[in-house]
Amino acid sequence: MTETARIQTPYLVEEDELDRSLRPRRLEDFVGQRTLLEQLGVAIEAASARGEALDHLLLAGPPGLGKTSLAQIVAAELEVPFVQTAGPALERKGDIAAFLTALEPRSVFFVDEIHRLSRTLEETFYPAMEDHRLPITVGQGAGARVVTLELPPFTLVGATTRTGLLTTPLRDRFGIQARLEPYGVDELASIVRRSAGILQIGLEDDGAVAIAARSRGTPRVANRLLKRVRDFAEVRMEGVVTAAAAAAALEMLEVDERGLDRLDREILSVICAKFAGGPVGLSTLAVAVGEEQDTIEDVYEPYLLQQGLIKRTPRGRAATPAAFAHLRLEPPAAAAEAALF
Ligand SMILES: Nc1ncnc2c1ncn2[C@@H]1O[C@H](COP(=O)(O)OP(=O)(O)O)[C@@H](O)[C@H]1O
Ligand SMILES: [Mg+2]
Repeated sequence: MTETARIQTPYLVEEDELDRSLRPRRLEDFVGQRTLLEQLGVAIEAASARGEALDHLLLAGPPGLGKTSLAQIVAAELEVPFVQTAGPALERKGDIAAFLTALEPRSVFFVDEIHRLSRTLEETFYPAMEDHRLPITVGQGAGARVVTLELPPFTLVGATTRTGLLTTPLRDRFGIQARLEPYGVDELASIVRRSAGILQIGLEDDGAVAIAARSRGTPRVANRLLKRVRDFAEVRMEGVVTAAAAAAALEMLEVDERGLDRLDREILSVICAKFAGGPVGLSTLAVAVGEEQDTIEDVYEPYLLQQGLIKRTPRGRAATPAAFAHLRLEPPAAAAEAALF
């Protein structure tokens, strides 16, 4: 059971060819997140008119909501180069220096998973972000001295699944801080329609809505499901993604009417059945479902919390009455009572 759950996980997190081919290229292709897009649009236009680099931008939110896409769009709209790396790939100060000194003026420097930078390396970014300086130590021992490299103006775009893991000084140096929110069904349906157009998939309107409703608020999941439903429609039906094809395919994929997959349900059932509604500590929960703590926290929890199926308490995660109802379980009296307060 856990094996299957593990195989299912990558469709939530992994980035691949499908992501690249379906990625929106310009602000106008990017669906939803209206407030953020408007803010960004204004900031981009102003920076372009002044011929300056855009303020540093921090994008936070669960995987698959469009952080990487947006970072690339920002570069495209500014008409500047896009240079990409990730927190775990930067191991030494020299790695950062190599990137920063090679940037063309006003470039977008994208650091994915910026919360995984070491503390020391975070500090390297402070002067670079603030006044385009990079002090580095040359030589060793008594002969060592500090040389300050002048950097071209640039825009650091950081992406993180959890802002809580960034130090305050780093966070404060981002002029624009944005949190991407889960998408509504209408928005996801229009993403599914756009993707079907690109992939040349026959799709009926209610088929798009059926997929959107089960995509846990996440465009990447919507695109993944569209592809799987297409396979099903081709093999078992007429090849067109109708509501019926979507429902049958999603049932086969064990994605339920709330968009929960096997691991989601397993998390709920561990809390509800094994621990009588909780609270359960994250590490205990992770062991019980056979998944990494980080994956549970970054990928699974946000949607379960948003759906009101679990709550965070100081002593761990607890199931709500809605979780018991979803699993068709009787809530223990104590849990039902606690939920009232
Ligand atoms: N707002 C959006 N409009 C259209 N498609 C989107 C949007 N956000 C995400 N996507 C789709 O979802 C995929 C994953 O998005 P991505 O930017 O890689 O997310 P993240 O970097 O946050 O994990 C993209 O390839 C794109 O096809
Ligand atoms: Mg990404």
